[in-house]
Amino acid sequence: MEPARVVVEAAKLVPPGRALDLACGRGRNATFLKQHGWSVVGVDIVEEADIVLDLEANDPLPFESDSFDMVCIVHFLWRPLFAQARRVTRAGGVVASAIHTTRSTMNPKYTVAIGELRSYFAGWEILLDREDAIAEIVARKP
Ligand SMILES: C[S@@+](CC[C@H](N)C(=O)[O-])C[C@H]1O[C@@H](n2cnc3c(N)ncnc32)[C@H](O)[C@@H]1O
Repeated sequence: MEPARVVVEAAKLVPPGRALDLACGRGRNATFLKQHGWSVVGVDIVEEADIVLDLEANDPLPFESDSFDMVCIVHFLWRPLFAQARRVTRAGGVVASAIHTTRSTMNPKYTVAIGELRSYFAGWEILLDREDAIAEIVARKP
C-alpha cells in the first residue's frame, strides 16, 4: 500500500531518525519510513502493531518526552493525542498528520474543522500546511 503523501513529504524535510506512528494500521507509513532509513515504532489497537494500545484511553503515551524525530498521526482522530504527540517529539523533530475535514464526506465524528489541525501546533514552525477535504500538516517543534 502507498504511504500517505504527508509522510513522504515529511521524510524529505527531516533526516532519518526515530519515528512513532500512532494508529499505524497495517503499517504502510512505517514500512515506507523504514525503507528510507528510519527506525519506527508503530502503535495501534490491533495485535499486529509493535505496541498494542487503546489510544483513546487518554493515558499518557508510554514514551519519554522529546524522544522522537517524527510522530505520525494519519487518519485517526482522537484530539487529546495531539498534546501527547507534541510532548514526545524532540526539539527539531516533526509531527506529520493528515485528517479528513468537515469539507469531506467522512462521518463528522472523524473530521476536523477547517483550521483546527494547525491550531494544535501554535508556536511550532509549520513546514507544510494543506487543507481541503483532508487537512495535512508537518510541524516542527521549536
Ligand atoms: C483509517 S486507519 C489509518 C491507519 C494508518 N494510520 C494509515 O494511514 O494507513 C485508523 C487506524 O486507527 C486504529 N484505531 C482505531 N481506534 C483505535 C484506538 N482506540 N487505539 C488505537 N488505534 C486505534 C485502527 O485499528 C486503524 O488501524
